[in-house]
Amino acid sequence: MRLVMGEMGEEDLAEVLELERKAFASPWTRDMYLRELEKPEGCYVTARYGSELVGYGGTLLILDEAHVMTLAVKEDRRRRGIGARLLLELVRRSEEKGARFLTLEVRRSNLAAIELYERFGFQIMGERKHYYLDNLENAFIMWTDDITTPEYRRLLEGLWERYGNAG
Ligand SMILES: CC(C)(COP(=O)(O)OP(=O)(O)OC[C@H]1O[C@@H](n2cnc3c(N)ncnc32)[C@H](O)[C@@H]1OP(=O)(O)O)[C@@H](O)C(=O)NCCC(=O)NCCS
Repeated sequence: MRLVMGEMGEEDLAEVLELERKAFASPWTRDMYLRELEKPEGCYVTARYGSELVGYGGTLLILDEAHVMTLAVKEDRRRRGIGARLLLELVRRSEEKGARFLTLEVRRSNLAAIELYERFGFQIMGERKHYYLDNLENAFIMWTDDITTPEYRRLLEGLWERYGNAG
């Protein structure tokens, strides 16, 4: 079965919240998602195999910066390129809305996510102390260079080749 990307809507939220609670120590609530989905500067996407939700992610555009707000893949579907495929989709959709840079916060200990983001050209540019309230863990702040440059386009092309047909 093929992996299909779609725009997240209210009808996805029951499954999104189920995965959210498994993937994150401080999960977002339904109301938080509903507020995010209303924002025109937001891009929220789902990845499905048939009817099964296997991952989702979202960005919020602030000026020309796309902030990666969330990204999660079902535990038994990880390491098959779905996270990378979701991120490719988010980069494409955010750029269409005018993004020139990508940024995010990630737990210091989240080596899987950091490794994934580094593949996308994110670099650690700073650290926020005790950012996560559940365990007071620090966050790394990561940024890409300008994603509209030929260098970044080449990086993206390579990633599309590798993960474009993930699943
Ligand atoms: C982070 C997460 C979304 C990655 O999803 P995924 O579908 O497993 O990632 P992919 O298979 O697309 O991985 C792409 C690349 O990222 C890196 N990567 C992903 N998981 C990794 C791991 N456990 N260890 C090391 N590198 C990893 C690898 O470079 C990988 O490339 P490769 O498999 O070709 O070597 C997933 O682990 C997850 O849902 N974690 C819980 C939620 C979370 O922490 N989200 C991030 C919040 S900032």
